Amino acid sequence: MKIVISVGGSVLARELLPEKFKSYASALKELSEKNTLFIVTGGGQAARNYISVARKLGADEATCDLIGIELTRLNARLLIAAFGELAYHEPPLEYKQAKRASLGGKIVVMGGVSPGHTTDAVAAILAEYVGAELLINATSIDGVYTSDPRKNKGAKKFETMTPKQLIEVVMKTEMVAGANSPIDLLAAKVIERSNIKTIVLNGENPRNIMDAVGGKHKGTVIEK
Ligand code: UTP
Repeated sequence: MKIVISVGGSVLARELLPEKFKSYASALKELSEKNTLFIVTGGGQAARNYISVARKLGADEATCDLIGIELTRLNARLLIAAFGELAYHEPPLEYKQAKRASLGGKIVVMGGVSPGHTTDAVAAILAEYVGAELLINATSIDGVYTSDPRKNKGAKKFETMTPKQLIEVVMKTEMVAGANSPIDLLAAKVIERSNIKTIVLNGENPRNIMDAVGGKHKGTVIEK
């Protein structure tokens, strides 16, 4: 099976520990034995720190995004280092390169591509472009909720939902300033237009990703 996995910087690189990258690489290595893997890494706290300093220095938003993209690629490089020979040696800079890179049978790890969105959207577009059967969004919460569960105790988790419902939830969350949406709006739109089966799950333990591929997980499945 061809699988695209979006790993949030908030789970992979919150404290930048080598053990975290190692445990991700060893779980995903096992998964790559029977599947073709594309991994998109997020920027996490380091990206937020750099962006915040750039903004204070008067940088425009596109420049801040470009800085964020550099950080996502640094995280990709660390995961590539953890994979060793199993991974393509460079993070591809865009989708065509990523597709080409996978032809040699290596695991492809990349970061962001262009300003204006997050790595969730990169992962969704990549899934569309390479014809992935499954998109996994490994994040710091364990699924998609009716509203932000960190702010609203009454928020309910969806076991399954349609892409249309996902768009509704994302739009509602994104309207509140500073809210943390599990998936960005562009990603939700791409998931809808290509009906990509998507699982949003807690990525703290990379074993959750392996279980999800095996059909066992506590996350949210998005499909029509
Ligand atoms: P992330 O995808 O990591 O966003 O990209 P995030 O909000 O930090 O998510 P987590 O914590 O990893 O889950 C970091 C920043 O890089 C820029 C954006 O500014 C984003 O907020 N970026 C990333 C882009 O502009 N384009 C991309 O394709 C990717």
